Amino acid sequence: MNKITISHDILLLQYNELSSQDKALVDAAKDATQLSYSPYSNFAVGAAILLEDGTVVKGCNQENGAYGNSICAERTAIFTAQCQHKGKKMLTIAIAAYTDGDFTHNPITPCGACRQTIVEVEACQQEKVRLLLYGIDGTYVIEDGIDVLMPLKFELD
Ligand code: THU
Repeated sequence: MNKITISHDILLLQYNELSSQDKALVDAAKDATQLSYSPYSNFAVGAAILLEDGTVVKGCNQENGAYGNSICAERTAIFTAQCQHKGKKMLTIAIAAYTDGDFTHNPITPCGACRQTIVEVEACQQEKVRLLLYGIDGTYVIEDGIDVLMPLKFELD
């Protein structure tokens, strides 16, 4: 019998332990929650992407009365970056969520569809994407890209 063991490091940092560049990106993700259209879930998610040229692209979740038409903050931000800054590498994505009058205490993590979208981003740009997953009580800092959240990810050969 063979066995595959998968393990990854995730740092859990307090906001004030983040670098100033990471703080600024987390702040942008927090700001983006205010632009969310989420009348059905009342769960406002914001994402902010740092591109290789220093540009920050924001996105937020956009819901719809036909629920399946809704789109997450991460994919809103990724698709905006791909439309408006085609070919620019995405270095880091920060995510934050606001509900019941405050940001979530635990870090928010991207859903499966968004993880798979980040898989494709990494494949296209041939470079991993750092992830900053904000919560009031701590931020997950993932330096090693989407593999950490999506082991044995699907990719076309
Ligand atoms: N949502 C996101 O925007 N990103 C995530 O990573 C998880 C969930 C949105 C979808 C929906 O509008 C709301 O949060 C509640 O699920």
